Amino acid sequence: MTLTASIATICAITAATAIFCAVIFPFLLRQLGSHLLRRTAANRSLILKELGVSDHGCLVGFFHPYCNAGGGGERVLWAAIRAVQEKHPNVMSIVYTGDQDASKTEILSRVQTRFSITLDPDRIVFLYLSTRRYVAASTWPHFTLLGQSLGSLVLAWDAFNLLVPDVYIDTMGYAFTVALAKLLFGIPTAAYVHYPTISTDMLGSLPANAGLRTSLKRIYWGLFAELYKRCGKYADKVMVNSSWTANHVRQLWKREDVAVVFPPCAVTELLEKISGDKPRQKLLLCIAQFRPEKNHKLLIDAFAAFYKRTEKHRDARLVLVGSVRHDEDATRVYDLRIQARETGVKDQVDFVTDAPWSEVLDWLGKAWIGVNAMWNEHFGIGVVEYQAAGLISVVHNSGGPKLDIVVDVDGGRTGFHATTAEEFADAFEQALSLPEEEVNRVRQRARKSAQRFSEEVFEEGWLRAFDRLMEKAE
Ligand SMILES: *[C@@H]1O[C@H](CO)[C@@H](O)[C@H](O)[C@H]1NC(C)=O
Ligand SMILES: *[C@@H]1O[C@H](CO)[C@@H](O)[C@H](O)[C@H]1NC(C)=O
Repeated sequence: MTLTASIATICAITAATAIFCAVIFPFLLRQLGSHLLRRTAANRSLILKELGVSDHGCLVGFFHPYCNAGGGGERVLWAAIRAVQEKHPNVMSIVYTGDQDASKTEILSRVQTRFSITLDPDRIVFLYLSTRRYVAASTWPHFTLLGQSLGSLVLAWDAFNLLVPDVYIDTMGYAFTVALAKLLFGIPTAAYVHYPTISTDMLGSLPANAGLRTSLKRIYWGLFAELYKRCGKYADKVMVNSSWTANHVRQLWKREDVAVVFPPCAVTELLEKISGDKPRQKLLLCIAQFRPEKNHKLLIDAFAAFYKRTEKHRDARLVLVGSVRHDEDATRVYDLRIQARETGVKDQVDFVTDAPWSEVLDWLGKAWIGVNAMWNEHFGIGVVEYQAAGLISVVHNSGGPKLDIVVDVDGGRTGFHATTAEEFADAFEQALSLPEEEVNRVRQRARKSAQRFSEEVFEEGWLRAFDRLMEKAE
């Protein structure tokens, strides 16, 4: 074969591949999509009939295979559906779930007791998937990331065989399914991302000069990141649960239009039950499970350093409120008590274990400062509670407490950031020494800051994106 012939062959193959990827493959997928649409047409009219507005109803599919899990991700799902039910009477919410053992009544009553969210049973439909095992980590002992992602495609295929929705929303982080929905049906799509499937931190965490295994892993993760990146462009709307996730998703998906919609927290109760102008005691309150990463050790050291130096605040106390789940936690509390004795602040530190919520509320109502010492906590719902209760926060200078929660409001501080024991000690001294008007201003700003995490603000942010999708669907 001559050189020109080889070049011509290569060109022809490249062109053929390009045409296949750009034209034929999408065309085939759309054909497949139309086929599914026809196959599930009967289901569709059945559901629309139930809704009672057959001609102009809209079916919005929420992909949430673990909808009955009762965690933070589920709170977001249910609050989102409630908002949709309140604002859009013509929408039927379809939840694709793998919880085959739970009936609709059971799921809805759990939503009620667990989250106090009431949903209209006539405007929600559960479609049960039988292939959830494909997204279980245990199904893919090797290549878990890729396995689960491909598994999610099987699950989505299962879902679309039951019903093709008019709008598709992934609320569990299965980005591949968003791409599939778009390629098959060309419908409006959205993703609410709690956590990126692969993060740039992960890619950076591999040692530089390691052996073959690590090199292979690097290639695998790199390829996976590339695939994940491509999925990102198929979502019309992207929402994320925190600034941390937003930064990663922006980087990975190379898109700027990522909206931070904080998950709803129950701040209204605190704002209502705790009055803003009650006199407070010099209590430094820490509400956190007695887990090692919560870093109570650092707090006790910091408090000891502060107490050694302070002259004005000899009556300050550190109050550690938290649950003790098992023997290990109990041992940790024991060790912390010893630490308090050894650092000479035994009589100034209180341990309050497994207190009921009413008692926690009581502490929140009378403490001065709320502290959090954990490094790189993703969010920190406890810190939001400090703010709602009007405490001055002193938090670790990292993660969600720094980026999202203890930020300036109306140009003024809502608390302090610290890293070392010395810095925490300084912040305690400062927070307790602020002039009275300034203390009140900080407390007011903190309470205002907490409102950013309320259920109302979540609904606004969520509906802003959802309304756009509905416009596209029309
Ligand atoms: C929807 O249609 C499929 C057949 O395509 C059927 O197997 C399934 O049971 C139907 N589901 C509902 C909820 O009607
Ligand atoms: C976002 O989701 C991740 C993963 O579930 C969680 O660790 C983090 O706390 C969440 N952030 C907020 C603001 O709830």
